[in-house]
Amino acid sequence: METKNNIRHIAFIMDGNGRWAKKRMMPREYGHKFGAKKFKEIASHCYDMGLQYLTFYAFSTENWKRPDNEVNSIMKLFMEYLDDAKKSLDKDVGLVFIGERDRFSEEMLAKMEFLENSTKNCPKKLCIAINYGGRAEITSAVNKLIAEGKTKITEDDITANIYSGFCPPPEMIIRTGGEVRLSNFLMWQSAYSELFFTDTLWPDLKASEVDDIIDQFAGRKRRFGGV
Ligand code: FPP
Repeated sequence: METKNNIRHIAFIMDGNGRWAKKRMMPREYGHKFGAKKFKEIASHCYDMGLQYLTFYAFSTENWKRPDNEVNSIMKLFMEYLDDAKKSLDKDVGLVFIGERDRFSEEMLAKMEFLENSTKNCPKKLCIAINYGGRAEITSAVNKLIAEGKTKITEDDITANIYSGFCPPPEMIIRTGGEVRLSNFLMWQSAYSELFFTDTLWPDLKASEVDDIIDQFAGRKRRFGGV
């Protein structure tokens, strides 16, 4: 299917769950629960319109600094998603987890690997960034190349060795929640991405707003450094 505006890949920074819960006088965990539901809804909307690759920032390397109960609740939601993913994912969507894997339980790692392996031939990809940091990703690609004995490293080498080297960089990055920064997300891949920021809190994001943002993308002139 030809996607509107020829977009193949959109990446999302799902920000604002905590404030969304606070507005309802509920604990932050409540916001993450709705955030996880919203993630599934927005992903299926984007695949329905023909997108091939989606990346969602679920948990950064810095998010471990949050209170234990909040970290645990996000990990619990993540585990629930891992158990449910096979049922809720379209048959042609494969899962890929990007990030460092050293801090997850054996059980969680086994579920992640099982899902990745059992969906690896699917043509569409859903990348979930978890324990992810963009600088760490670049550093790990460089270290891998050094370990292979490379003495001169090219941009193509790094592109091929980052976690999401299998997919094109995102044409668009959408951040909800009102902050105007990338927060160490896709530092290498975002070099020419069009950035969109909305004040809408992640659990409030509607598919129709994503459609509007995609329409705005058509109005951006992408020159990639040319004229
Ligand atoms: C940012 O909002 C959100 C997170 C750090 C966690 C995002 C996690 C999910 C949506 C659930 C993940 C689950 C799956 C299945 C991928 P915030 O807490 O920083 O919000 P705030 O800025 O309002 O405090």
